[in-house]
Amino acid sequence: MAPVKVTVTGAAGQIGYALLFRIASGQLLGADVPVTLSLLEITPALKAAEGTAMELDDCAFPLLKGIEITDSADKAFDGANVALLVGARPRTAGMERGDLLEANGGIFGPQGKAINSHAADDIRVLVVGNPANTNALIAQAAAPDVPAERFTAMTRLDHNRALSQLAAKLKVSVTDIKKMTIWGNHSATQYPDLFHTEVGGKIAAELVEDAWLRETFIPKVAKRGAAIIEARGASSAASAANAAIDHVHDWVNGTPEGDWTSAAIPSDGSYGVPEGIISSFPVVSRDGRWEIVQGLSIDEFSRERIDASVGELVEERDAVRALNLI
Ligand code: NAD
Ligand code: LMR
Repeated sequence: MAPVKVTVTGAAGQIGYALLFRIASGQLLGADVPVTLSLLEITPALKAAEGTAMELDDCAFPLLKGIEITDSADKAFDGANVALLVGARPRTAGMERGDLLEANGGIFGPQGKAINSHAADDIRVLVVGNPANTNALIAQAAAPDVPAERFTAMTRLDHNRALSQLAAKLKVSVTDIKKMTIWGNHSATQYPDLFHTEVGGKIAAELVEDAWLRETFIPKVAKRGAAIIEARGASSAASAANAAIDHVHDWVNGTPEGDWTSAAIPSDGSYGVPEGIISSFPVVSRDGRWEIVQGLSIDEFSRERIDASVGELVEERDAVRALNLI
């Protein structure tokens, strides 16, 4: 079997360090799938990426068939089958949202273009670097020859956080919980929805107090990223890498029958989310493609929250459009 080429940007960063070893050990694509890794970094971080590559060598992973380290996007994405876009420009003091979007446009536009020109026909892209949904939109816009559905952004970490919070509340195992959903943006406006989530055949929203759902669960999940930054002094890394593994694993290998997961994928207009916006939905993966779970009833409470988060995504889209980034 020919190795699958996995390109990781920001490979010398925190998430990169937590991610690369798991990809090389077979957890991303399967225990029988050989991989080659392409590490894309900015020039000053190449030496650190080389250090990580030395450690990857030292693991003697049977599935790892090669490592390439480069600061050239054209080279990094050449023949890539999976692209994990992790490296991004973080928000620094005094930076307005427009500045942040523009700085990231300078990264994700050229990377999208390089993917368009050089990646393999089956390329699948997961954007982790924030603001992830809109960075994915920028990369997608720069890659008109790649099917739009191949550009996705990560809300699986939010999904996993929601599972864990609910399991702790109900004193059940995360495996007892099915059909969790994160809607919208990977930001504090996201909406973790318990109205379709099932625990032992019952709807989760009916098993918890209304006040807990509104005042504890939703804000705790939505603001967990900020809480981790506050506690660690750095944003989540191992849990983010874990979620990236889950997302791509399920995209390629399928989601289990009787359950679904959450991923930010281009909207087809489902649930009133404007077409083209890269928004989180309840999704299943079948035959290597994400499909939005259809037919869920959305009450007024959920509608308001979905609309608020999608409204933020529309604003971000309009902002990058005004900057000619899409
Ligand atoms: P980090 O600062 O440790 O690493 C980022 C790396 O990206 C650095 O090594 C940097 O040199 C590199 N980089 C910057 N510009 C690049 C470019 N143009 N090409 C290639 N590499 C480039 O950050 P981290 O902790 O690894 O986090 C990375 C991103 O992931 C951040 O934007 C963070 O906010 C985001 N994040 C997202 C989620 C999510 O759930 N979607 C969760 C956690 C973190
Ligand atoms: C997270 O959800 O942990 C991160 O997106 C937080 C951040 O701003 O990096």
